[in-house]
Amino acid sequence: MITLKVNGDNHTLDVPGEMPILWVIRDVLGLTGTKFGCGAAQCGACTVHLDGDGIRSCITPVSRAAGKEIVTIEGLNNHVGDSLRSAWAEVDVPQCGYCQSGQIMAASILLTENPAPNDQDIDRAMSGNICRCGTYQRIRAAIHLAAKS
Ligand code: FES
Ligand code: FES
Repeated sequence: MITLKVNGDNHTLDVPGEMPILWVIRDVLGLTGTKFGCGAAQCGACTVHLDGDGIRSCITPVSRAAGKEIVTIEGLNNHVGDSLRSAWAEVDVPQCGYCQSGQIMAASILLTENPAPNDQDIDRAMSGNICRCGTYQRIRAAIHLAAKS
């Protein structure tokens, strides 16, 4: 049994400790906003927060989250998250949308640490999140817009 907090709710789960967090949140808890992309820590589609840090949930065993708090895109309900969601809609960032929850989770860490990032800051912080549709210019514009609110 593992006890972990996800989006503010405590869960005691009968899952193997080595199960990736991504499978726990998607398949056990039904939180499907977080996506499986590469499964190898290469694309960022599976990004969630673990005690405020961005992690690749596809390769992180759930045992590492015991007693800690996971936040997924469904639970990103703070000022930064709201600003990013509004900016994403205003700029009309997504194409297929598959990578975008991971993009927003990464962007929220950037804006929490650096409320006024320049283009280089954004490119550096977002470099681990791949978008096969190539929405990088609009992601950058949306992060600048969110930073102003
Ligand atoms: S699915 Fe985790 S980094 Fe690609
Ligand atoms: S919007 Fe399609 S992969 Fe990013």
